[in-house]
Parts: sequence; structure tokens; C-alpha cells
Amino acid sequence: MSEQQRPEAEVDAPVFRPRKNGQAQSVSDELAAWMTTGWADTELRDLAPIEQAEHTARRRAALSAAFPGDRLVIPSGQLLTRSNDTEYPFRAATDYAYLTGDTTDGNCLVFTPRADGGHDVVLHLKPRSNRDNGEFWLGGYGELWTGRRNSLGEASDLLGVPTADVRRLPAELRADASVTTRVVRGHDAEIDALVDELRADADDEARAKSARLDEDLGVVLADHRLVKDEWEVAQLQLAVDATVRGFGDVAKALPQAKDTSERYVEGTFFLRARVEGNDVGYGTIAASGANATTLHWTRNDGPVREGDLLLLDAGVETTTLYTADVTRTMPVSGTFTDLQRKVYDLVYEAQEAGIAAVAPGRPFTAFHEASQRALAEGLVEWGLLEGPVDRVLELGLQRRYTLHGTGHMLGMDVHDCAVSRQENHLYGDLRPGMVLTVEPGLYFQPDDLTVPEELRGIGVRIEDDVLVTEEGRTVMSAGLPRSSADVEAWLAERLPR
Ligand code: GLY
Ligand code: MN
Ligand code: MN
Repeated sequence: MSEQQRPEAEVDAPVFRPRKNGQAQSVSDELAAWMTTGWADTELRDLAPIEQAEHTARRRAALSAAFPGDRLVIPSGQLLTRSNDTEYPFRAATDYAYLTGDTTDGNCLVFTPRADGGHDVVLHLKPRSNRDNGEFWLGGYGELWTGRRNSLGEASDLLGVPTADVRRLPAELRADASVTTRVVRGHDAEIDALVDELRADADDEARAKSARLDEDLGVVLADHRLVKDEWEVAQLQLAVDATVRGFGDVAKALPQAKDTSERYVEGTFFLRARVEGNDVGYGTIAASGANATTLHWTRNDGPVREGDLLLLDAGVETTTLYTADVTRTMPVSGTFTDLQRKVYDLVYEAQEAGIAAVAPGRPFTAFHEASQRALAEGLVEWGLLEGPVDRVLELGLQRRYTLHGTGHMLGMDVHDCAVSRQENHLYGDLRPGMVLTVEPGLYFQPDDLTVPEELRGIGVRIEDDVLVTEEGRTVMSAGLPRSSADVEAWLAERLPR
């Protein structure tokens, strides 16, 4: 149920941006009056809660228990202008979506401390557009322009949390400026400024402490998100399965990509995401030839040539904001050259070693170390690095060619839980329910004079998504081939003859 419904008098506040342009600015009194009438009641009543509601309730309870006595402010984020009056596609702030199951803009979840140490949790939302003051059709964010929103009552039923009009939020926060307030910063400039205002009287020392308050809230949320519940694992598997289909589409489309550019690859993958109702969790990296040696090549404007390797790093993001993160490096022709295969097989070996080191109770660093050792051994054997291998690893010399860490947590953010406490994550042990990527690579830059000329411009990465289980691990992206022979067989089934 909703504890909302502002008095009508307040509704005229110009909270939604007026439209900047258009030929229909001036409105006759007759039209204005007419537009207020003749609309059906479309309120949906007694909606069943979303599947996720029991999980979001548990997550909110865990967060409440972590911060007794403090007010917690978790915004969903605001639209970002792309140019003039058009915006980038909106993607809700991760912590907000994690705690609510909602993914819409302009909202804010607020935990208000109670005397008993618990919190009253209220979701402050943009309400339905007002039909009496013209906002619904004349305002830039009016529902006739941007689409129907859930009413506060509907949202409350769906999300299982009391709701209020977000326009009340400033007054509410100001009404009790003395309570310690923590905000998840960086998503809503107005809310950040509002919290700063509450702290305006603080001296420098108190202000420095306040920054720490906000940071700690982010850290605790990241800690909570480290271990995925069953529902989250299922969402991640949906994201991975859709990604596997996207890679299959790309394999079939390689001949067309040869006629155009890497963008054909990017677009083909994106099409799969969109036709299934999803999005991508990060900018697709479609890197052919030497572009594969640029780790985050997202320009995707290079050619795709017959003899090249294509490195595709892409992940579908579900509507619930869980993303896959998968990389395959495939020969455009369907067959690796001997040299490409040699590089690929070493990366594959390193990935095998890394995946084998993923198990509950093992340090998070173990899979990285296992993969790096395998790569260093290979590079020493090839004569690219001078042994012994232990010296190479101690000095990190292999990193000239391996460049990045071997993996990271995966979840709602592609680089998930990045700010969690080191003892729980980077220097902690793996726990069942954690999901991570294992993604070793070798990158020989086109201008690297330390490697034989024939290796220059070859970049290979193999990336899979791995769930830590009670028994060991499950490779969630096992639907794609990994060994060079399996990649060739998979391509052979898909490339037109
Ligand atoms: N897609 C970015 C990464 O693999 O970390
Ligand atoms: Mn990754
Ligand atoms: Mn990736």
C-alpha cells in the first residue's frame, strides 16, 4: 500500500522539466480545460508482487541491520542529457535496483531510523503525471511523452514496499537534519546536494567524516552483493544463455562483417539482445586483427579481414540488470593459422588452470595466480621472457603481454562489487554463490619490438563466467566452445559453406 497522495495544491510545483521547443506551446483555455477531462481510470488494483520481492525485502532487512540509527538514501539516478533535449538510455543505479527490483529513473529509496533500531523504508517515486495542470502532456517528462508510470499504489503492490511522492523528499530530509544521513553518491546530483546541504553547518573534520559515511554505505552494499542468492544466479544464467545465442549469431554473420566492419559484429550481437527484450551490460568489444590488442576496443570501426582473429567481448544484460561478460577469439576464416593457434592454445591452457583454481575456500587471488603462471611458463618457453618463471612472476614481467587481471566479480555490474572490503573480496576466499569471470589473455602490440614480427598484432582473450558452488564450480557459459578445435568445429557448423 502507499502512504502517499499529496494534497492536490502541491501538485502544481514545476518539478518536471518544461518542454524546450515545439510548435504547440501556447494553449487556449478551452483546450487546457478539455485536456483535463475525458480520461478513464486506469489504476491497476491488487497487483501481485514481482518475483524478486521476497529477495529485495531480505536485502533491505540486511542493510537496515548494518546501519542502526542512520538514515540511508539510495537514489535510482537521473536521466543524462545526450544532446539538447534527448537523453541517453536510462540504466538504474545498481544498489537501488538491488534493493527494490525497480529500474526506473528519478526515484529514491529512503531508510528512516526508528527508535527500536530498525528503519521505516519508503520508496519515493515519480507519481503518475498530473492531468489537471497539463504536466502529463505539456511537461517534458509527462507520461504522454515518456510513457505511463506505475502509480504509487501500483508500485507499492508490485515492489512490496511503501511508496511516497518523490517531490516530498527534500522537505522530508530537511525536516530532520540532525539524523546521521548516508547517501549512495554519484547518481543524482540534486539528492547529493541536498545531503550536502544537511551537512552545511559541519566543520571540515565533520565533513570529512561524512564523506566516509557515504563511502561506507557503498562498501557495505557491495559486500552484501558479493554472494548471489538463487534468484540472482538464475538471472545471471539467463543473461549468459542469451549471450551464447548472440555469439552464435555473430559466427553466422562473419561473412557479412567482412564486407562492412566490426560494427556488423557489434550490431548482430545487439540485435540478439534486443529481440529477446534485453540490453547489453557494457559496450561490446568487437575487435578484429590488431584491434584485439586494445583491451577495451569499443570503437568497433575497423575492418574484419579473412585472415584475422576476431575478439568479441560481449554480454547481454537482463531487464532485471544482471549481465554476462564473455569473450571468444575466433578466426574469421573458420580456421586458426598455426601461429594463431599457438597463442590461442596457451591462453586456453591458462584459462583451464584458472578455472580449476576456482573453488569455495580458495583465495580470490588463486585463479589469477594459476593463469598468470601458465602464461609466464609459456612465454619463457617461447623465449619471449627470460626465466626462471618465478623471477618473471615476482617482477610481473609477463604483464607486458598479459596486461590485465585474470577476472573479476560479476553480477549487476560487469565489474561487480568493486568497492567491497578487501578482506571479503580481493584478499578474501571464494564462497558458494559468488560469480566471477576467468579471462586470461595475451596481447602482442603491433609496435612491440620485443616480440617476433609475426606475433605483432595478435590479441587473444578467452573469458567465461563461473559460479562458485558448494562442491567447486560451474562454468555458466559452457554453452560456447573454448578449445581451439572446438571453436573451429563450432564455426564450421555456422559459417555458410
Ligand atoms: N568486458 C570487460 C571485461 O572483460 O572485464
Ligand atoms: Mn570481464
Ligand atoms: Mn569481458
